[in-house]
Amino acid sequence: MMNIIFLGPPGAGKGTQAKLVAERFHIPHISTGDMLREAVTNGSELGKKVKNIMESGELVPDDLMVDIVKERIGRADCKKGFILDGFPRTIVQANALDEVLKGMNKEIEGTVYFKIEEEEVVKRISARRVCSKCGAVYNLVYSPPKVNGICDKCGAPIYQRDDDKEETVRKRYSVYIEKTVNLLDFYKKQGKLFEVDASKDIEKVKSKVGEIMAKIGGEKWLH
Ligand code: AP5
Repeated sequence: MMNIIFLGPPGAGKGTQAKLVAERFHIPHISTGDMLREAVTNGSELGKKVKNIMESGELVPDDLMVDIVKERIGRADCKKGFILDGFPRTIVQANALDEVLKGMNKEIEGTVYFKIEEEEVVKRISARRVCSKCGAVYNLVYSPPKVNGICDKCGAPIYQRDDDKEETVRKRYSVYIEKTVNLLDFYKKQGKLFEVDASKDIEKVKSKVGEIMAKIGGEKWLH
């Protein structure tokens, strides 16, 4: 079993690394941000409720988030494990997650903390672009697409997220400090916190995350 959380500020590279780990170990990448953005795009009831909250950089209410994640981790593809990216984000969410997992005879095995400073985050996010069709993530400075404005993987146009304006990024960072950063202590006390220097390049972070996965799940997770 490999039930893992990726924790850290916006733009730390959680999503980028979670995709790589999910591909490598064949476990689902559960990004609450991606799920909410999909709901907004589809214009569902959930999407209508969260659109303005997300655009302002605030957090969506805990009860909504817990319901979404509970349903998702109960699906069959999570049997071998999962990577939670963007959840939990508050102590209420973390406690609820522990309860839900307990009810399934499961637990979180490890939390990977992506450590990075605010200015680097602002720099990265202002250059982030996302594919409008397949969701692939690019960075105009560090990992640009081969053809300007076009996704390498599926050929659809890439765009800038609505909440990636500098002002909103700074707001999201302050919300992270106010509501999420104390989760580091929460998981440290459980002996489940592992730290990675997220300011390094994608390959270096990837290799460090791989080492952590092996530490958490044993050598088989390296092969
Ligand atoms: P969410 O989508 O979760 O956003 P976030 O946590 O702010 O994280 P990001 O997606 O911005 O960053 P990331 O760490 O994944 O970085 P990435 O890999 O893309 O949440 C959005 C909103 O949804 C929230 O504000 C909230 O409203 C709501 N929400 C979601 N979950 C919620 C919850 N649980 N409770 C309440 N509300 C919730 O990388 C960033 C950029 O840097 C990319 O361009 C990438 O290519 C580049 N990059 C990545 N790694 C490197 C590297 N090592 N070196 C150089 N560049 C890199």
